[in-house]
Amino acid sequence: MGKALIVYFSRKGENYWNGSMKNLEKGNTEIVAEMIAELTGGELFEVKRITDYAAEYRKCVEEAKEEFQTGVRPEIKTFKESIDDYDTVFVGFPNWCGTMPMVMFTFLEHYDWSGKRIFPFCTNEGSGMGRSEDDLKKSCPGATIGKGLSIHGAEAAQSRDKVEDWVKNTRQ
Ligand SMILES: Cc1cc2nc3c(=O)[nH]c(=O)nc-3n(C[C@H](O)[C@H](O)[C@H](O)COP(=O)(O)O)c2cc1C
Repeated sequence: MGKALIVYFSRKGENYWNGSMKNLEKGNTEIVAEMIAELTGGELFEVKRITDYAAEYRKCVEEAKEEFQTGVRPEIKTFKESIDDYDTVFVGFPNWCGTMPMVMFTFLEHYDWSGKRIFPFCTNEGSGMGRSEDDLKKSCPGATIGKGLSIHGAEAAQSRDKVEDWVKNTRQ
């Protein structure tokens, strides 16, 4: 089993958390990404927009909606130089507008995914994986997309057992 890469986007700041607003010091998806890194010994790579999304929830929703509606591929701070060394890539993101945040499309469309295995994980407030798995298939031709993991964002820190079970299945 080759080394795994864990690519994720996650946003700190104000967010809905079990129905009320909370200021998150660490994003929900990042919590899960770190668990996967620990369980697999894989390497983490965080996708960051060139300018951060607004920390204020409502402003961020506006930004996200506009990006989603225009289908833009927002500029990101850095790309990973190469993904050649990894045969398995875990791709993590919050569900935004029913799919991945547009920065994930920017990242994914940069690489040749032939022969790679992708396992998506998504934190959300109820929409599950949404359309993300279909969108991943389109953005990463040639990859095999494995069963995704949906985690309720507010329960990210308590989801270790669920994450561990899922990771075990991806390593077979
Ligand atoms: C801009 C924006 C759009 C969102 N859209 C959805 C959505 O369509 N469905 C859903 O279940 N949750 C939605 N959420 C909630 C997030 O998916 C959820 O809070 C997630 O755990 C945040 O992960 P993060 O802390 O890693 O960024 C949205 C949150 C934001 C900020």
